[in-house]
Amino acid sequence: MIETQNLPIALFDSGVGGLSVLRAIYRQMPQESILYFADTARLPYGTRSPETILQFVREIMDWLSTQGVKMVIMACNTSSALALEAVRAEYDLPILGLILPGARAAVKQGKNIGVIATPATVASNAYFQAIKEIDSTTRVWQVGCPEFVPLIEGNHIHSAYTRQVAQKYLNSLISKRIDTLIYGCTHYRHLEGVLHSILPPSVNIIDPAESIAIAAERELRLMGLKNNKLPLPTRFCVSGSAEQFAELSQQWLGFCPRVEKIHLRESSMIEMTLKSSEGV
Ligand code: DGL
Repeated sequence: MIETQNLPIALFDSGVGGLSVLRAIYRQMPQESILYFADTARLPYGTRSPETILQFVREIMDWLSTQGVKMVIMACNTSSALALEAVRAEYDLPILGLILPGARAAVKQGKNIGVIATPATVASNAYFQAIKEIDSTTRVWQVGCPEFVPLIEGNHIHSAYTRQVAQKYLNSLISKRIDTLIYGCTHYRHLEGVLHSILPPSVNIIDPAESIAIAAERELRLMGLKNNKLPLPTRFCVSGSAEQFAELSQQWLGFCPRVEKIHLRESSMIEMTLKSSEGV
């Protein structure tokens, strides 16, 4: 019987974006075992409706709840913005989102804050509200970047077109003279080379991945749930092509992961079938 503290932490995202959070967790808590899930069959999330995003997150949470994990980290800003509050009340697991840790870190750095995020995250106003609640005198500018996730998932990180698109998205924030920029989507850390080269050097970059890793460690410590055994190798699961995810992700992981394809809906159907055959 595995003790709760030795169970893995689950991270999920629509795709490879959450790997930026995974890397921050590796740095902050190298002793923890991790289950990483990417809903690649249904990405991008950021152009979907709030209802659809909530439904996808519930399906992921249902599956994760059957996998024996001690904590869930939404390594996806879109899910954190649209679904965190609802699912926190529905599942008996600690669930962490990126918005509050990101907003807190940004307010410590500046007064004129830019947020680049998916259209769904921008439309939710989650960052705007979180920042204003902490400091109502801060100015907040948000830009939706619908092209970034498909470009990153398509491995066009270094293309001239991606640079043009980044320039277009950042121009309006640069003209507002922002002093701080939040990566409001976990995928965007993968574009840090191009983003850094466009932004004035004085702009502070906030990657909420760093703050959520610190918050997760604190939470585990408070709950007495830090792993006290050797960590297991990270388990990578996807809803789409395992080969494609393994191929794309190795540039950020530094190794070629073994990836399992899982069927979210089918797994909950199997469970229902099992339950009904048990007469539950
Ligand atoms: N990486 C996710 C986020 O942080 C989702 C991106 C998407 O699928 O659109 O918002």
